[in-house]
Amino acid sequence: MKAVIPAAGLGTRFLPYTRSQPKEMLPVVDKPAIQYVVEEAVESGIEEILIVTARGKRAIEDHFDRNLELEQSHPGSVPGAQEFNELLERARIFYVRQTEHRGLGHAVLITEKFVGKEPFSVLLGDDLTFSRIPCQQGLLRIHAKKGVSVLAVQHVGLEAIGRYGMVVGKEAGEEGVFLVEDIVEKPTPRQASSDLATLGRYVFTPQIFSDLRKTRPGVKGEVQLTDAIATLLKKEDVYACVFNGTRYDIGDKLGWLRANFELALDRPDLTKGMRQILGDQTAEPRH
Ligand code: G1P
Repeated sequence: MKAVIPAAGLGTRFLPYTRSQPKEMLPVVDKPAIQYVVEEAVESGIEEILIVTARGKRAIEDHFDRNLELEQSHPGSVPGAQEFNELLERARIFYVRQTEHRGLGHAVLITEKFVGKEPFSVLLGDDLTFSRIPCQQGLLRIHAKKGVSVLAVQHVGLEAIGRYGMVVGKEAGEEGVFLVEDIVEKPTPRQASSDLATLGRYVFTPQIFSDLRKTRPGVKGEVQLTDAIATLLKKEDVYACVFNGTRYDIGDKLGWLRANFELALDRPDLTKGMRQILGDQTAEPRH
């Protein structure tokens, strides 16, 4: 299966940082955010990845490249080099540019030629997920059983409803799996009739492309992926699966800070220093 990682957004929530830097390159401890997303795709068994970029995002392509100069000047001692090169060997990464900022739905639509007529995965670069079974792999398992589109969701608080695509579903016989009945992009808390938010991990049948083509600009004047899913579910079953691991919305400043703190606390080389910073030198390491 192929995966698409949309990474063309302007990153306005992270200005002024994103004036000249792609938000997908924000460091989370010592890796750029998008590397975690590529790792999740690869751990889920995906071997071909198309990253949708845009003007000002060239740092992403440079990142997913061998750095021979560095490797030759520090033979065998570049931190993370072996792990990184293995990642590059396991996945072929391709790029396409979205030349106009027309939204997430449009970014996915321009990947149609690459995807072809097969089901495919979409992983958003703003969302990091951590769990024993990678979030995307969980979706792929359900897709393998049911043969339809599957979305990852999480229960969120009332204050977060206006930030996400919100799903209404009915239980589908398996714990945490719902048949989607409706989906709305960024509703007001009064419009929302559920607390299930999509979290940037999807498996789609190729039917989504014809629905995206028909989708007119919605919230923020952009072509919304959520609106195309709302059309899709009138024709095909779409399932939502509750993700039980840890998810960070790093498109949000507090979400990004939380990711850095919690992941650093879990890193054996940083736990002690982090605990000193936080003034907590007595507690046991979390793992
Ligand atoms: C996008 C999607 C939204 C989804 C969210 C997950 O929103 O449009 O449906 O719930 O990602 O993070 P954005 O974060 O681009 O505003």
